[in-house]
Formats: sequence, C-alpha cells, structure tokens
Amino acid sequence: MENKFLIEAFQTPKGITSGLSSYFDNLPADPYIDSNHRFRTYARFQNEGGKIIRLPHSTFTQSSTFNRVVGDIERDFAEMSNDMTQTPEFQHLINSFMDRTGACNDHSVVDVHQIRVTCDSDATSAPAPEGIHQDGYRFVGIFCVQRKNISGGFTQIYASPVDQHPHLNTVLEENQFVIINDSRFFHHISETLSSIAGEKGVRDVFVFTA
Ligand SMILES: [Fe+2]
Repeated sequence: MENKFLIEAFQTPKGITSGLSSYFDNLPADPYIDSNHRFRTYARFQNEGGKIIRLPHSTFTQSSTFNRVVGDIERDFAEMSNDMTQTPEFQHLINSFMDRTGACNDHSVVDVHQIRVTCDSDATSAPAPEGIHQDGYRFVGIFCVQRKNISGGFTQIYASPVDQHPHLNTVLEENQFVIINDSRFFHHISETLSSIAGEKGVRDVFVFTA
C-alpha cells in the first residue's frame, strides 16, 4: 500500500535564499507574456544513478488544456545560469523536490522555472495570468526566494477551477516551499501590488514540476 501525496509545505534553512537571490537580478524578460513585469529562465534535470544531471536545453510547450493564455505555443525561454544551478543552495532545493515527489527514484524529468514578477503601486500584476489552473504534471512545487514591497500574491489551492474558496490561501514567505499534487488540485497566485508608492514590488520564485 502506498500513501498518496497531496500537499506538503516546509521551511528550508535560512541561507538558501541569500545564496540565490542575486541570480534573480538580471533575468531576461519573458517574451511570451504581454507585460513588462515578468522575467524568467528555464532548465531541466533528471536523477541518474543517484546523481542529478542537467539535461540539454530545450523549448517548453504546455497544452492549451492546461494553459489558456500561452497553451500550445512553443516557448524558448532563456537558459538558467549554470553557476546558479551548481550552488549548494539550488542543489538543496532540487534534491528536496525530487526526494519528496519520488523523482529521484523514478527518474522523472524535473522542469525548473526561475521567475521574477514585478509590480507597481498603481497597477496590479498577475503572477498567474491563466487564473485557477493545473500545470499538467503530477507535482508542482513553488519555492519563494524573495518578496519585497509586495501586497497580495497569495498562494491559493483549490479543489476545482470554479471553487469560490480555496482550501489553502497563504503567503509563501521567503525560504518556504510548497509542493502540490497537480493531478488532484488546482492552484493560483493572486494579483500583486507594490506596497510602497513609487517603488517596484518584487516576487522571486522557483517553480518545479515533475
Ligand atoms: Fe501553475
């Protein structure tokens, strides 16, 4: 008998974000979204014989079944910094995700998206423009590296895309990691506003899928 993984949230050691946050400062813009508020890179990994290896860079396509905004569009995101993926902090995160989801044993390919979403104090930004959604994988993990001057940006987990009330509605703080069974739940990140007039708000995350 095997237990079924639903949701797990945990706190990582404090030093994880401090070792990674500078790698978010010069991210290239996401060219597939109609806003100048989203920046990102992409990488893929797999566990081979107990070792995590980085797979060759490739394009990324999500079915329109799962992504109403940019589904069925082949997206060629910038490559994630190799220096960053080799840091002990990043290795800790990908190990944690593979451990918890079983990807280290079943050799699932783990996609990682490094994403910065910025916002202003007078106009909201949408970290998840597709609304309440699934990503189309077995597991989705979100790890927060930085929240600066941010109001909103709640991590919300729903049983269905038309639910009025999320099962979980929380702010993922720096150094917190949540992993969701993506075949069972839907997720959404609510809109963000900068909490300081005239200054940008910043939310930096890694999204892992397997
Ligand atoms: Fe998502």
